[in-house]
Amino acid sequence: MINDFELLKKEILVCQKCQLSKGRTNVVFGEGPFDAKIMCIGEGPGRDEDLQGRPFVGRSGQLLDKILSVCGFSRTENVFIGNIVKCRPPQNRAPFPEERATCIPYLHKQIEMINPKIIILLGATALNGLIDPLLKITKVRGNWLEWNGHIVMPTFHPSALLRNPNLKKDAWEDFKKVVAKYRELVNPAHKSDYC
Ligand code: URA
Repeated sequence: MINDFELLKKEILVCQKCQLSKGRTNVVFGEGPFDAKIMCIGEGPGRDEDLQGRPFVGRSGQLLDKILSVCGFSRTENVFIGNIVKCRPPQNRAPFPEERATCIPYLHKQIEMINPKIIILLGATALNGLIDPLLKITKVRGNWLEWNGHIVMPTFHPSALLRNPNLKKDAWEDFKKVVAKYRELVNPAHKSDYC
């Protein structure tokens, strides 16, 4: 299976299926253990991610790492971090529906291969791209959803938390539920500074 994952990575790294490939410096495949029990899914690479070829390495990535760390998780140990689109949209605009539609089969394959116990959707683009284009993040965040047999927690994107710190309280509640679910499904002895 790990070989299939490496093959998928090779395929994605040379993808030219949509116009986003023309403006990219690097494809951002995602990172984390192949057998991660948690997957975090964001929107798409920004400037820093495009330059480094790694997901969530800018300001919102630092906040995401901090949240994960307080929950006792990390991208080196138990979280795979990916995105709805793998190439940076110009000026960090949201990816167009046709760009999302072209790229989403790659994410579906990543989910199938990693087979995480819990998927965390970060923000509206991830929610609309994976689950339903009509759902509102403000309405469904904090509620468990389901996608193809995986349980899914939608929550705010870290960049929304940076723009509006009042949202952090709700986001912490959502991550508290993730920690509880992780203890239930993966490791009852999981330690977290937060809960
Ligand atoms: N925002 C995202 O949605 N994804 C990244 O990888 C970085 C910032």
